[in-house]
Amino acid sequence: MIILFANQKGGVGKSTLAVLFANYLSLVQNKEVVIFDMDNQRSIYNKVQAAQVLENKPLYEVEAAEMEQFSTINEIVREKEGLITILDVAGNIENDSLIPIFKGIDLIICPFAYDEFSVGATIDFSEVVRTLNEKANIVFVPNRIKTNVKYETLESVNKVLLNFGAVTRPLPERIDFQRITTFETPPSIIQAVSPVFDLIFNEFIHKYTGSWKEKV
Ligand SMILES: Nc1ncnc2c1ncn2[C@@H]1O[C@H](COP(=O)(O)OP(=O)(O)O)[C@@H](O)[C@H]1O
Ligand SMILES: [Mg+2]
Repeated sequence: MIILFANQKGGVGKSTLAVLFANYLSLVQNKEVVIFDMDNQRSIYNKVQAAQVLENKPLYEVEAAEMEQFSTINEIVREKEGLITILDVAGNIENDSLIPIFKGIDLIICPFAYDEFSVGATIDFSEVVRTLNEKANIVFVPNRIKTNVKYETLESVNKVLLNFGAVTRPLPERIDFQRITTFETPPSIIQAVSPVFDLIFNEFIHKYTGSWKEKV
């Protein structure tokens, strides 16, 4: 199964949530995971390199890759039943290299924020994805939500996004999210993300990987 973390908007938490979700799949759900970092900023890949200097063992492989390599990667990972492949991409819908990726993935996790620029970009992005791929589930994850702010548009935004997919509970803006790693997730963060990740896993992933489990 291939999961894409994407949104047109930068800084919404794609790379952060990709790492936390990979940790969750590996540690909580005992899944074999690989991340392909296809964002030119290589923020996940660089994080792993930095961690290796300290001799921390990552829970899974992280590869730097170009979006153009998707079809090759797709062929390889499809051979490995039970493997969950996570792609982190920049998500600019002007980039044609994204077309085969949008067409070929099974699930999209789309972090976003409730500000007007983020919402506009998220809706544009979803329209493009839906046009190219009718089947893939899209899960929207509100991220960096401040507890002391009232989000006036929350309900109307959710209503629009529900036309494209599911919307999870929001994840809070918290300083500990800025120090995450690919070798462990601190208990404080596990507590914050578990309800959201459990829902995504149970609703959208278990049925794919479950059939594989039953076979062995
Ligand atoms: N829930 C959160 N609380 C606080 N900071 C966050 C949260 N999620 C992401 N961040 C921070 O926001 C910045 C952008 O996140 P990142 O995952 O790099 O976004 P993207 O990959 O979408 O560009 C990073 O500095 C990251 O540490
Ligand atoms: Mg990123």
